[in-house]
Amino acid sequence: MCPTEAKDHPVAGRPPGSRPAPARSAHGGGHLRVVDADVPAAVGRVLKSVLAERTERATAMDPDFGRDLAERLARFTLDGGKRVRSQFAWWAMRACGGGAAESEAALHVGAALELIQTCALVHDDVMDGSRLRRGRLALHTDIAAQYADTVPGAAGSRFGEAAAILAGDLALAWADDLVADIEAPRPRARAVRDLWSAMRTEMVAGQYLDIQGQATSSRSMRRAIRAACLKSALYSVERPLALGAALAGADAARSRALCSAGRCVGIAFQLRDDLGDVFADPRRTGKPVGGDIRAGKPTYLVAVAHARAEATGDHRGLAVLRSCLGRADLPDSRLGEVRDVLIDTGARDIVEAKIDRLAGHAMRHLESARLEPEGHLPLRDLLLATAGSSASPPPLPGHPSAEDGLPVSLLLTAAVEGAAR
Ligand code: IPE
Ligand code: MG
Ligand code: MG
Ligand code: MG
Repeated sequence: MCPTEAKDHPVAGRPPGSRPAPARSAHGGGHLRVVDADVPAAVGRVLKSVLAERTERATAMDPDFGRDLAERLARFTLDGGKRVRSQFAWWAMRACGGGAAESEAALHVGAALELIQTCALVHDDVMDGSRLRRGRLALHTDIAAQYADTVPGAAGSRFGEAAAILAGDLALAWADDLVADIEAPRPRARAVRDLWSAMRTEMVAGQYLDIQGQATSSRSMRRAIRAACLKSALYSVERPLALGAALAGADAARSRALCSAGRCVGIAFQLRDDLGDVFADPRRTGKPVGGDIRAGKPTYLVAVAHARAEATGDHRGLAVLRSCLGRADLPDSRLGEVRDVLIDTGARDIVEAKIDRLAGHAMRHLESARLEPEGHLPLRDLLLATAGSSASPPPLPGHPSAEDGLPVSLLLTAAVEGAAR
C-alpha cells in the first residue's frame, strides 16, 4: 500500500509505523463457558469481525482487489472447515490450566490458525492442480470461472492460479498480523511467536518435500512420513496444541507430552487423508477421488505398496503402479486397478494398522501430560476423532465412560471425518 493512499482513507490511515489496534472478539474474555460450549462458533465470531474489517480496508484500497481476492478469501475461511486447529489451541490452553485471562489470546491464535489454513489450502490446490475443495470450486478455478468470458482457456487458468497465490499470501499476512497483536505476558507472547514462526517454515518445508517427491517419483517410506509430519502433523495438530499450552504457561514436561500426542495424531490424520484420496467417497471428502494417484504424490500408502510389491516379486502390481502413478488423464477403470494393488499388496491394511497404533501412542502421551479436567476430555475426543482411528478408544482413567448414549468421541468422529480440511 502506498503512503498517500493510507492518508486518503480513514480506515487505512494509521500513523506510519503504528501498530493496528488488536482485533477484539465480540464477546470479550469473560465468557469461558460460552466458548467451551462451542469453540468453532467463538472462533467464527472472531474471524467474522476481523475479516469484515480487513475486507473493508481492502475494498477501500481497490474495489476489484477487495471483491475478487479479499472477499473470496474471507468467504472461504468463514464458510468451510471444521475449525480443528483452533479447537486444538483452545482445548490445549484449557487443559493446561488457562482460563478467562487467556481466552482472548487463544481465540485470536485460533483465528490465525484458520487463516493460515486458508493460505495452505489455496496454495495446495494450485500446486496439486485440484479443481475442487470442500465440494466447491477451488479458489483458483473459481476466479478463472469468474473471468472465463474475458480471459478464456489457458490464459484464464494461469490468471486464476496467479490470483490464488496472491489470495493465499494475503491470508498468511492477515494471520501473521493477528499473531503479532496477541496480548499475553511477555514470555508467553514470545513463545507463541517462536512457535508460529517455526510452524510456518515447517509447513513450507513439508509442501516442498511433497512436490519434490512427486517430481522425482520418490517411493521412500521414510520420506513420505517426514513430509506428512512437516506438511500436516506439525501445523495441523502439534503446533496448535503447543500454541495453546504456551498461552497457558504450561511447563516443559506437559508441553512435551502434548506435542508428542499431537505429532502421532497429526501423522495419522495425513495417513487417513491419503487413504481417503483413493478409497473415500468424494461426496464426503469434497475433493476429487484419485487426485494423489493422478498427480503421482509420494504418499506413505503408495510407498508401502511399492515396497511390498518389490519384496514379494509382484511384477503385475509394480507395472500397474509404474504405468498409473502420475498420469493426469488416468481413466477411472485404471484407478480401480491401482486400488486393487493397494489392497492386494496389503498396503491399505498396513496403513490402517499404523493409524490405530499412532492413535494408541497418542493416548498414552496424552495421559502422561496429566491435564486439567477442564480440557482433558474434549482434547482427548478431538485427538481421537482427528486421528481417524477405527480402534475403540482406551478407557480414560478417572473419568466415567460415556454410558448415556453415544460416546463423545464417536460423535466427534462423525463431525470431523471426511472434509476435515
Ligand atoms: C496438503 O496435503 C497439506 C497442506 C495443505 C499444508 P494434501 O495435498 O494431501 O491435502 P488435500 O488432500 O489436498 O486436502
Ligand atoms: Mg492437495
Ligand atoms: Mg498437497
Ligand atoms: Mg491429500
